[in-house]
Amino acid sequence: MIKVAIILGSTRPGRNGEAVAKWVYQIAKKRSDAEFDLIDVQDFNLPLLDEPVPPSMGRYSKPHTKAWSAKIDPFDAFVFVTPEYNHGTSGALKNAIDYLYREWNNKAAGFVGYGSAGGTRAVEQLRLIMAELQIADVRAQVALSLFTDFENFTKFKPGADKEQMVNDMLDQVIAWGSVLKTLRKK
Ligand SMILES: Cc1cc2nc3c(=O)[nH]c(=O)nc-3n(C[C@H](O)[C@H](O)[C@H](O)COP(=O)(O)O)c2cc1C
Repeated sequence: MIKVAIILGSTRPGRNGEAVAKWVYQIAKKRSDAEFDLIDVQDFNLPLLDEPVPPSMGRYSKPHTKAWSAKIDPFDAFVFVTPEYNHGTSGALKNAIDYLYREWNNKAAGFVGYGSAGGTRAVEQLRLIMAELQIADVRAQVALSLFTDFENFTKFKPGADKEQMVNDMLDQVIAWGSVLKTLRKK
């Protein structure tokens, strides 16, 4: 079975992202076709990228980079849970992605975005980033609205249709993640 990391990309005190990522993880854990883990970018205390050598060279010098690399490397696929800040993803998530290279290559990803407009612009930005990292990003995505999936913009109450959307996205992530695992073995 492939391993899928659900990556929580917001670090703001009082963040909505924590409830969203935990909800995704609970849905994922009901499945038996992959293993899932929840990874909180905040736990890695990554400073703004401070590696002297570009990550694509794989010569990491800092303990925080090595710890982040060791965490991400074993996974076959990812679900990025992203807020939308100023029509993009969070600086924290972009920074965490930028730290690594080979650990992302030839793997699959899906997205759960949230914001006033469902986080869709943040996800579009992430899709451009995925291309450079050789991550195959699936079409199905989950868009959660601050207006209809939260009460008072803060209490997460996802619409009844949203769990199925998570599973549709996971179906595609697991399918592509499984195939790409065989490619990496070659
Ligand atoms: C700095 C900042 C910029 C934001 N910009 C947008 C935006 O461009 N589009 C949008 O739909 N929501 C925007 N929002 C609303 C956030 O998507 C919303 O507050 C969300 O809960 C943020 O995720 P978090 O609570 O996990 O930090 C912004 C919020 C912040 C803090």
